[in-house]
Amino acid sequence: MSRALPLNRRGIPASRIALGCMGLGGGWDYEPLTAANLKQAEEALEAALSIGINFFDHADIYTRGKAEKVFGQLLKARPGLREDIILQSKCGIRLIEPGDTTNRMDLSKEHILSSVDGSLARLGTDYLDILLLHRPDPLMDPEEVAEALYQLKASGKVRHFGVSNMSAAQIRLLETYCDEPFIVNQLHMSLARISWVDAVLSVNRDQWKEVTFPEGTIEYCRAGNIQLQAWGPLAQGLFSGRPLDGQPENVVNTAARVRALADEKSATAEAVVLAWLMAHPAAIQPVIGTVNPQRIAACSGAEQVELSRKEWYELYVSSRGEKLP
Ligand SMILES: NC(=O)c1ccc[n+]([C@@H]2O[C@H](COP(=O)([O-])OP(=O)(O)OC[C@H]3O[C@@H](n4cnc5c(N)ncnc54)[C@H](OP(=O)(O)O)[C@@H]3O)[C@@H](O)[C@H]2O)c1
Repeated sequence: MSRALPLNRRGIPASRIALGCMGLGGGWDYEPLTAANLKQAEEALEAALSIGINFFDHADIYTRGKAEKVFGQLLKARPGLREDIILQSKCGIRLIEPGDTTNRMDLSKEHILSSVDGSLARLGTDYLDILLLHRPDPLMDPEEVAEALYQLKASGKVRHFGVSNMSAAQIRLLETYCDEPFIVNQLHMSLARISWVDAVLSVNRDQWKEVTFPEGTIEYCRAGNIQLQAWGPLAQGLFSGRPLDGQPENVVNTAARVRALADEKSATAEAVVLAWLMAHPAAIQPVIGTVNPQRIAACSGAEQVELSRKEWYELYVSSRGEKLP
């Protein structure tokens, strides 16, 4: 069933599926962009636009800035496209640099502001439609974050804000200090990554104590009209054609069940995998990470695939590899 996204309900005309741009720009290194990187990005963009995707997900760190940079080159070559698409980027992770001993989180005001300036310069645009705080930072001072977001909004550099990988409690803390609403929470969710479903069913069940997904996060986002975005939604192809040598029985069985459903419904395996997420009443927006044009095209029928409750639970339990009590 096709459902209106919370983003749409806020007047943001986002497509049902988003393209994640982490795979653009080549390696996570300091090598310059190549003609092959540009060609790959052009083909991915073309494939996405041709199936109606208008929402593109970036981060300052993807391929060390090269994903945004190559996307900026595409925008430059297509005047007018910028206004027709929704650009989301993220800040708050600092990759290890020479002289550092580790990656680290950084949601300081200074880093948020300089990260957005970097993203805007690389993308060659004056504004981001949405900025996400990429991951929680234990040293985050919400008052400082509020000041940074206020400046970004007032200067027109960012239109909307959201978070990623955050629990309900972490969002609530930010909301206490920030005037602007947080309209997105991007989480790792897929038919392989099912702890967000387990968390719902584990309430009041001693035998499911191992579930670590922060309880109440999905519900908090739903109640607050916060768009849930799923990163990793294709499970890196685990159920849609990636070789399964050495994979556990539950994965092999689930891939077979996906294939059978795809055949029954004259759909692709990718569409079935995404349809499983999209059948959830929260209207989850999958952020697909493939940059392969054929695979992007294979995702296009997901909105049309209808899964019954029985089929949805069969896939979930198959992936879980353990019957429900
Ligand atoms: N917020 C966060 O913390 C966070 C973290 C990670 C990612 N993200 C975002 O989410 C997006 C998607 O994440 P993801 O890339 O992890 O998710 P994904 O969509 O589950 O997986 C895409 C990856 O799987 C490969 N793949 C898909 N089907 C395949 C198949 N049948 N055989 C072999 N390989 C296959 C793709 O390769 P091809 O390109 O060759 O198809 C690509 O590398 C990213 O682009 C990024 O925008 C956010």
